Amino acid sequence: MAALAGTGTGTEGLFFWGTGTTGLAYYYWLNEMYMDIRIPLPINSNPGMVFPPRRFKTVHDVAHFAARLLDGIMSHKEMLDSGELPLERAASREKNQPLCMAQYYRLLGSCRRPGVDQDSQYLPSRERLNDEDRHVVVICRNQMYCVVLQASDRGKLSASEIASQILYVLSDAPCLPGKPAPVGLLTAEPRSRWARDREMLQLDERNQRNLELIETAQVVLCLDEPLAGNFNARGFTGATPTVHRAGDRDETNMAHEMIHGGGSEYNSGNRWFDKTMQLIICTDGTWGLCYEHSCSEGIAVVQLLEKIYKNIEEHPDEDNGLPQHHLPPPERLEWHVGQPLQLRFTQASQSVDKCIDDLDFYVYRYQSYGKSFIKSCQVSPDVYIQLALQLAYYKLYGHLVATYESASTRRFLHGRVDCIRAASTEALEWAKAMCQGEGANVPLESDREDEEESRKVKFSIYSKDHLRELFRCAVARQTEVMVKNILGNGIDIPLLGLREASVEVTGEMHELFKDEAYNISQCFLLSTSQVACSTDSFMGYGPVTPRGYGCSYNPQPEQIVFCVSAFYSCEDTSASRYAKSLQDSLDIMRDLLQN
Ligand code: COA
Repeated sequence: MAALAGTGTGTEGLFFWGTGTTGLAYYYWLNEMYMDIRIPLPINSNPGMVFPPRRFKTVHDVAHFAARLLDGIMSHKEMLDSGELPLERAASREKNQPLCMAQYYRLLGSCRRPGVDQDSQYLPSRERLNDEDRHVVVICRNQMYCVVLQASDRGKLSASEIASQILYVLSDAPCLPGKPAPVGLLTAEPRSRWARDREMLQLDERNQRNLELIETAQVVLCLDEPLAGNFNARGFTGATPTVHRAGDRDETNMAHEMIHGGGSEYNSGNRWFDKTMQLIICTDGTWGLCYEHSCSEGIAVVQLLEKIYKNIEEHPDEDNGLPQHHLPPPERLEWHVGQPLQLRFTQASQSVDKCIDDLDFYVYRYQSYGKSFIKSCQVSPDVYIQLALQLAYYKLYGHLVATYESASTRRFLHGRVDCIRAASTEALEWAKAMCQGEGANVPLESDREDEEESRKVKFSIYSKDHLRELFRCAVARQTEVMVKNILGNGIDIPLLGLREASVEVTGEMHELFKDEAYNISQCFLLSTSQVACSTDSFMGYGPVTPRGYGCSYNPQPEQIVFCVSAFYSCEDTSASRYAKSLQDSLDIMRDLLQN
């Protein structure tokens, strides 16, 4: 099928946003995936991304690095405004088709807004795009500052000038008397609750202005304190040790910081979870990003930050001069909150801490091989990893479950993602055969099969040739489903369109969508996503159901980085057990294929 639209610079998508020319189907999807969801953003919706940690010797290093990042953001913004962002094209499968660029134009200066029944998005308008005044909000120890990076009367700040502003924040925030109101914590609350709190905040005009400054900021920059060692990986002692460390902190610990901030005692109040891009820099050198997902998929965010990061790495000494102190200090945002909101801070602290205590997260680097080996087996790395995820699940539970994998649909105007479903009959047949004889974790054949049959399965050993044949069938099926999805022939998005259209036309849900099978198919106990990075970075997120797993993966030539998540409150799941099962699965898949 031909792509419906490559959007040139993609700006038309931005300018017509919300005026009706964007397909209705996009809003069906946006509301279903994000705007209608009422649970808190951290863990449940906002992914966190960890970059290789920096080595800061002094506070000047922190300020300088922050300034370079912000300077990179400003340069990118200039490129967007001048329409010079290159149009991307598909690299494989009907190669060279143009890709919709609209997501890239929504990353900077945008924000999600809570609503009591439904959230909305603040997106920069045409007027704002041409506006010369540009600012960011910097948060340090829960204190917020507006740092103007470009003004019509004084032009764009140099990196040294930005560094001086950051230094001011770093020295001012710890010295202020009293405890600041942790307003940012409210953004970590369930959406309807936060919407009501926001209404209360807005009763004061000065708070209204603060909210506007945050929402219109290009990005939010969070200057953090390190988390304690109790956020390090737990369990699975056989795992490859963490590659990056910051003091005692491992990569799991760093991922916690990016996803939720570590709780009210650490940095969860040092956030604005509604903001599309929150850059996070910790004094111990850990750094990364937390991003609000409704505006864009991870790929656009990763590409932007990696571009800036690589430029810093390639030109480490650029604009490394002494900070300039001739500028007026940045304005601190003062909040005016009465007793009811003070009480809400206490409640919000408790609820965010409870959610964080429940997050079972594990960053797992599988280092025995990566996509080079997989390619040498003539298999698509993405397909191979998806089958490894299926096998790992089967090994633990003896059955497969509805699995979500995001497939980019950017070949279509405003395309975001459809769902590649990996739990196929072929994958099940192969996983069963791979596990036969294992016993321990896998129950014998299901109750439905007769005893004699299950005994047969238990005692017969499949030949490697047979297992390879089953694997080839599973690969063929998975490849077909993947390609169909990225070319616009997926199942989930069209079904969603039919469901919503049927409600609009008839006033009620068609019975197909009330069927139990449909409900089961929508409960993604395994929610996965490839987030490929060209630097040694990774992105992770929480499960999408209380009994489920989240699992992102970053396939690199010689290793695969997984971020596995589950909830401690579910007795049946464990991130480290799943990681261990992944290791076993990937090992036996190599043994099966390497000769
Ligand atoms: N034999 C050998 N090599 C193969 C192969 C085969 N049978 N099939 C594919 N390859 C190669 C490809 O040519 C490609 O090579 P490259 O590294 O030189 O580019 C590489 O293996 C990777 O291809 P593959 O694993 O098939 O997948 P992909 O990179 O095309 O990605 C999706 C597949 C579905 C992940 C991708 O299309 C997509 O939709 N990504 C977006 C996901 C997303 O939105 N994530 C963020 C959510 S927040």
